[in-house]
Amino acid sequence: MEDKTKSRQMKPLNSIRLGGREVLPLIEGGKGISISSGLSSGPWALAGGIGTISAVNADFCDDAGNPVPQIYHGRTRLDRHNELVKYAIDGGVTQVKKAHELRNGSGSLNINILWEMGAAERILHAVLERTKGLVHGVTCGAGMPYKLAEICSGYGVHYYPIISSARAFSALWKRAYRKFADFLGAVVYEDPWLAGGHNGLSNQEDPKVPEDPYPRVRLLRERMREFGLDETPIIMAGGVWYLRDWEDWIDSKELGPVAFQFGTRALLTKESPISDAWKERLMTLKDGDVLLHRFSPTGFYSSAVRNNYLKELEERNERQIAFSIEEVGDHTAELKLVRARPVYVTPGDLLRGKKWMKMGYTEALRTPDQTLIFVTRERRESIRRDQVDCMGCLSQCLFSNWADNEKHSSGRKADPRSFCIQKTLQDIAHNGSIQENLMFAGHNAFNFRKDPFYSNGFVPTVKQLVERIQTGD
Ligand SMILES: Cc1cc2nc3c(=O)[nH]c(=O)nc-3n(C[C@H](O)[C@H](O)[C@H](O)COP(=O)(O)O)c2cc1C
Ligand code: SF4
Repeated sequence: MEDKTKSRQMKPLNSIRLGGREVLPLIEGGKGISISSGLSSGPWALAGGIGTISAVNADFCDDAGNPVPQIYHGRTRLDRHNELVKYAIDGGVTQVKKAHELRNGSGSLNINILWEMGAAERILHAVLERTKGLVHGVTCGAGMPYKLAEICSGYGVHYYPIISSARAFSALWKRAYRKFADFLGAVVYEDPWLAGGHNGLSNQEDPKVPEDPYPRVRLLRERMREFGLDETPIIMAGGVWYLRDWEDWIDSKELGPVAFQFGTRALLTKESPISDAWKERLMTLKDGDVLLHRFSPTGFYSSAVRNNYLKELEERNERQIAFSIEEVGDHTAELKLVRARPVYVTPGDLLRGKKWMKMGYTEALRTPDQTLIFVTRERRESIRRDQVDCMGCLSQCLFSNWADNEKHSSGRKADPRSFCIQKTLQDIAHNGSIQENLMFAGHNAFNFRKDPFYSNGFVPTVKQLVERIQTGD
């Protein structure tokens, strides 16, 4: 039988200076909600790398260490939003303390936030204020976090912007970061086609045409050199599994100092807090089981396992037709709706609409794009309930129209083609169904099934995984 922890010959992986500290160039990517917690990131730091605690609505624990369920009492969205912010701060502090205890003085600890989460600045300030000396860096993606550098520098903590193109980093640098150069820990390049979680695809990139990361990272390094950032490391995230596939990146003169971030592969360890059902499912995924889609209420692309939850969203979006309230253009056919006035659609869509209604998708819901989607009565009720229950977890939510502004509204119509990401990610993180919830994963997740390291259902400890990665396998 193969010795699972045996080393093989690969270019030695030297320590690197990240955020002013010598660490292994191996990083556990931040994963919300409550997926990279103190329990997983502490051991990752203990193994010599950087562990990243997700501070996106992290779990607050009682004295026995059990997560306290996040129950909302507020009657308005704003009241619930304020409850959520308090939970998020207490949770972030709890998890940082846990990770600090477990790292036992080794490695480094970062926290991760999403710039597009509701009250991101408030939460970041409060967590950093209450964990002084315990956190070494902050990674932050989703959106353009211009203020990240100023906030982190104020606490003497390094910042790690997550970007997916040289262009995005140039914009951040020129407008804000150049004034806080000393605290730039590294730039995280996250492959927008391959990484798990939200993906930074812009209008310039085609979601169906993945691009080789090497030239994109080379261009990033060129820009960074123009800014005098020759020695600031770049962290490669997204699609990294076997380091043997990245040997030409290690000690490359062209790319300069590079480190590697693992999101998906780091999901499967003994310490990882995800459910056993989730861990087991990871070992059965096949190539193509992860879908890059655009249903997230943030408006960003994201990558998740194509389970029942995602299939329902796909189907809901397919059962969609354009309409007008009056007869106009090619909208010449009248479609009678349940509990709503008739609308006008094309003759072809009339047939499709009638067919869906006959199949039980009797409820037509309006979208902000002058279209209707057809769902069952139960689905309509669950969509409405989730919209009503909104606790304002994002800075702008397409699904509920909540916005973290004075009016607490984006001014747009709520979009039933999306979903409440807070509810579903909280549920899957706390033993909820892995079929009926959003299950983020990177596109390389099928490797769990193929990689001999995991044969016979072997689940490594974080230490064993970090050692294995260093062998190139
Ligand atoms: C389940 C899961 C949740 C994630 N959540 C976040 C998150 O909250 N914030 C973030 O910046 N990145 C998040 N990511 C991205 C990871 O931090 C990491 O950059 C990415 O997974 C790397 O690509 P890989 O999945 O191919 O390893 C998540 C990834 C996964 C798989
Ligand atoms: S509806 Fe949107 S903003 Fe409200 S809690 Fe859900 S995901 Fe967050």
